[in-house]
Amino acid sequence: MTSSQTPTRSGESSEPVRILATSPVALIEIDNPPVNATSQAVRAGLLSAIQEIDRNPQTEAVVIACAGRTFVAGADIREFGQPPREPHLPDVINAIEACLKPVVAAVHGSALGGGCEIALACHARVAEPGATFGLPEVRLGLVPGAGGTQRLPRLVGMEAAIDLVSTGRTVKAAEALRLGLVDRLSSGDLRAEAMDLAQEMIGVQPARTGERPVAAMDAHAASAKVAEVRKKARGAEAPCKAAELVLLAADLPLLEGMARERETFLELRSSEQSAALRHAFFAEREVTRVPGLEKVEPRSIQKVGVVGAGTMGSGIAVAFADAGFDVKVVETSESAFAAGQARITDIYDKQVSSGRLTSAVRDERLSSLSYEVGTPSLADRDLVVEAVFEDMEVKRSLFRDLDGVLAPGAVLATNTSYLDIGLIADATARPADVLGLHFFSPANVMKLVEIVKTDATAPEVIATGLAVAKRLRKVPVVCRVCDGFVGNRILARYRQQAEYLLEEGALPQEVDAAMEAFGFPMGPFAVSDLAGLDIAWARRKRLAPTRDPHERYVDVADRLCEAGRFGRKTGAGWYRYTAGKREPDPFVTGLVEEASQRRKVLRRTISVDEIQARIRAAIVNEACKILDERIVERPLDVDVVMMHGYGYPAWRGGPLFEADRIGLKVILDQVNERAPQDGPGWEPAAGLVRRAASGARFYP
Ligand code: 3HC
Repeated sequence: MTSSQTPTRSGESSEPVRILATSPVALIEIDNPPVNATSQAVRAGLLSAIQEIDRNPQTEAVVIACAGRTFVAGADIREFGQPPREPHLPDVINAIEACLKPVVAAVHGSALGGGCEIALACHARVAEPGATFGLPEVRLGLVPGAGGTQRLPRLVGMEAAIDLVSTGRTVKAAEALRLGLVDRLSSGDLRAEAMDLAQEMIGVQPARTGERPVAAMDAHAASAKVAEVRKKARGAEAPCKAAELVLLAADLPLLEGMARERETFLELRSSEQSAALRHAFFAEREVTRVPGLEKVEPRSIQKVGVVGAGTMGSGIAVAFADAGFDVKVVETSESAFAAGQARITDIYDKQVSSGRLTSAVRDERLSSLSYEVGTPSLADRDLVVEAVFEDMEVKRSLFRDLDGVLAPGAVLATNTSYLDIGLIADATARPADVLGLHFFSPANVMKLVEIVKTDATAPEVIATGLAVAKRLRKVPVVCRVCDGFVGNRILARYRQQAEYLLEEGALPQEVDAAMEAFGFPMGPFAVSDLAGLDIAWARRKRLAPTRDPHERYVDVADRLCEAGRFGRKTGAGWYRYTAGKREPDPFVTGLVEEASQRRKVLRRTISVDEIQARIRAAIVNEACKILDERIVERPLDVDVVMMHGYGYPAWRGGPLFEADRIGLKVILDQVNERAPQDGPGWEPAAGLVRRAASGARFYP
């Protein structure tokens, strides 16, 4: 390794960029916790360090490395709301590339956005095997703004660059090496190995990424690629623009391409979509900081039990096994036991066959799971999550059993979607230890977990739920008990309004197309078909005796179920399915028209705008009632639930963020216009009326 000299500093010790060695290989260290974002101070420090090194005759090569847990994770997102300040990142990065001495990036942690762009402009890159690379700007409604769209294709080729830039996907170091984004993986001491490489490069003309040629894509293939990106973006504007910028790299010299890129970056930076996506980014982090729980210590959870290994339970067990917990899966009978074990093995086998997991990792995960019949085997568990049949008596009886078996201090969680968790907790002698952990299907994939507290749940038990969810790498939202909690309660209104639209003149495929154009991955009727119509039917039948007789009720779904159409699994539901493809069905059109006749409604053409606006108003109104009733404490809790659990487009920022943008008076007018026809339950939320009257917003 290069002999390192006494550290010299380009400023005071609090400066975020330091020169730790100068001769013959200099070491520049960026130190700006938590993630070394390129704030103005970092940009200025980096530029002056490079200029200083360029001038120093003792220095023959340079390594750029970072202190702390990661390489540079990008531009400082918190600065995006302010006017850009010099020096700008593209200029700093161009200075790195233009450096007359070889520059090597030593990457650990994440090299994202501006951080990846710094690495791209270095003359070589060494990475730790655990490092990740990516240009995730599109996830913030942006395109890379410091040469990423122009340099990446010069290193990895057009197709790979379009894929990475338009999806924002990150790649691990091994894939980065295969793509040509990284030159070497370190086998131990990253900085020493980067300094060794820099030493080897002394006297060799630096290979500047910006000077490399890039092969153009065939015009037909290029436009097909952009069309594919547009389709997948579902209304988000940044991915297409990013792909188009990458294509320019084949035709334009670096600086011209970068000028076009910068123009687009600045334009998008002040766009509504980017503001919404930035809100989504910070809300996802803020949601875990629950007021009142800041100083509460969670209980230690290592051993987890999952009761019931149906679709939900098996996904939950896999989520815990993936996060390194010791998991015991319990079924009540031998036959259910075998089926559950097969289901879990199948989840892992599918991941191996799709290349997402190696068989060695699958075997390791499977070995962290054990299976038993009967609850007594759960005696040593710190946390038990039940995912048994959705029936109050079944759950209460299970909780009574668990109460008799578990050690004091164990946490008892239910995955119920609708039942009153307070009543389940009352079946035990320790209601303070009971909470809801409401996962979403497939539980090992979906990020959202509703952490449902009752009036009796102890703060440390809620904090434990949050800590566990974080370890599972989920996005937890704390809420109180109500029918459907946050997400399913709002979804119920969404579905009801969608059915009213059918009765008034729309068809399922029209409502679905409108909501897919809105940005949801699937419309409400296609989602129902995927989930299966029978479970909701059983619930409706259960609740029928208590339904308000004045409630506006559309019975098309009941009739579909009576006809044995339970959705995709039976080949027909709101659609019919041929080779897995959904097709509108005249039978359903007939049922919908009959429903209109029964209600004596003259069917009319309903525009896409009306469909979208009515459904959005229904969602916002119910969300506001949830806030009014203090089921959640903050608007961001609702927005996070809707974005992470139900596919509300993140580029709209969630329903309440979007409502602020549209104007609460406008939304209130829409709610008021519908309320008389839609009847009980559709009255405007008090909080919406109050805010609209005073000009207040959900987000100040
Ligand atoms: N700017 C400002 N703050 C940032 C940040 C950024 N780029 N990235 C992360 N942070 C903050 C987070 O808000 C969080 O703050 P908090 O503790 O106050 O909540 C803290 O850093 C830690 O972040 P995480 O909780 O997310 O920590 P993780 O370890 O889970 O994840 C990460 C680390 C993978 C780096 C993740 O934070 C991440 O993905 N960050 C965003 C990366 C990104 O989008 N970069 C592109 C920025 S745009 C850009 O670079 C434009 C350029 O092309 C010009």
